[in-house]
Amino acid sequence: MNDSTRPARTAFDLSLQSIEQRYRGAPSPAVDGVSLDIGAGELVALLGPSGCGKTTLLRIIAGFVEQTSGQVLVGGRAIDDLPPNRREVGVVFQNYALFPHMSTLDNVAYGLACRGEPRARQLAKAREMLELVRMGHLSDRLPRQLSGGQQQRVALARALAVDPRILLLDEPFAALDKGLRLDMQIEVKRIQRLAGITCIMVTHDQEEALSMADRVAVINQGRLEQFDVPNQIYDHPATLFVNQFVGTSNALIGQITRLDGEGRAQALVDGTLSCAVRVAGGHHQVGDSATICIRPEHLRLADDGEGLRGTIELSLPLGPQIVHEIRLPGGADLKVVEARGEGARFRTPGSAVTLQLTAGAIVNAFAATKAAEPAAA
Ligand SMILES: Nc1ncnc2c1ncn2[C@@H]1O[C@H](COP(=O)(O)OP(=O)(O)OP(=O)(O)O)[C@@H](O)[C@H]1O
Ligand SMILES: [Mg+2]
Repeated sequence: MNDSTRPARTAFDLSLQSIEQRYRGAPSPAVDGVSLDIGAGELVALLGPSGCGKTTLLRIIAGFVEQTSGQVLVGGRAIDDLPPNRREVGVVFQNYALFPHMSTLDNVAYGLACRGEPRARQLAKAREMLELVRMGHLSDRLPRQLSGGQQQRVALARALAVDPRILLLDEPFAALDKGLRLDMQIEVKRIQRLAGITCIMVTHDQEEALSMADRVAVINQGRLEQFDVPNQIYDHPATLFVNQFVGTSNALIGQITRLDGEGRAQALVDGTLSCAVRVAGGHHQVGDSATICIRPEHLRLADDGEGLRGTIELSLPLGPQIVHEIRLPGGADLKVVEARGEGARFRTPGSAVTLQLTAGAIVNAFAATKAAEPAAA
């Protein structure tokens, strides 16, 4: 990297304060009281199912939608009264939205042209940004002469060219196939680090969120369910929704048998397996029924001993792992993932097995509500 591609800039923090958005005629708010404090230079992923309000939140930050209530602060200053072009927020939309009749170079220079920068300065900056995204050699091409990944880089260069304080990416990799997607994920992370820019990336791909982001904000029906580092989201989900939405999880019915008041408890799972659980929220009492979540990699199969009894439905090879589908006597289906080469083997459908927790297994318990109860198989 040479000095011309190293932007000398300060990163800005971004604070969302009780943002609410009610679209006219909608029965419920699209964004429902979301507060987030994002550090300068941080990359945050907004993760949630379709329609949960992710794009709406980005549009509010960029100034394309005026929120019903709440404030957006950049570097400690409210930007709510500024029009989009004065917010210094760069946006890359899902479809990249490049101008079809303009060359790559002109697309990237566009924002600077709008600002009335001298032509020589526009071109110099646009070239610098194209180098940053490794597209300098294709600066004369039209968008239709570029691949999806290349268009994506141009859109990113265009968003960065105006030196935004905040970079917003809405599903930036949705149109890319798997291999290119991984390349671009690494690339965007590299550029974001290099530019030292505060970034929010929208995705509904949990793996993408967990691998790329410094912190992940999980949103459900307009509400923030959890905002934390990827490991905490995965291992210590704050709600049953987060546990079910991120990664794969087996949900079982259990009962709390002991509580220590500090989030640790003992539960009896499916009437037979007693184990240490972590309780989220403070809504449990001894004797309460709970939804117990165990990830497939935290279970292992044994031929005898203590544990849940079940019957093999299927054993499938999945690359370096074996995935077993197991039915419990009550009818619930569970998944168990074992690493190959650690004594794991294929099992014949119909054979009886015992399920045990692995050493260090993390088991989360959530207050059982009607809606949260696992579907009976
Ligand atoms: N301009 C609008 N007018 C009315 N309702 C809208 C408008 N834009 C979005 N909505 C509604 O607000 C909710 C949130 O939409 P939004 O586009 O923010 O979701 P999203 O999380 O980005 O979903 P996706 O993952 O499908 O892109 C949805 O119920 C949607 O139908
Ligand atoms: Mg969206």
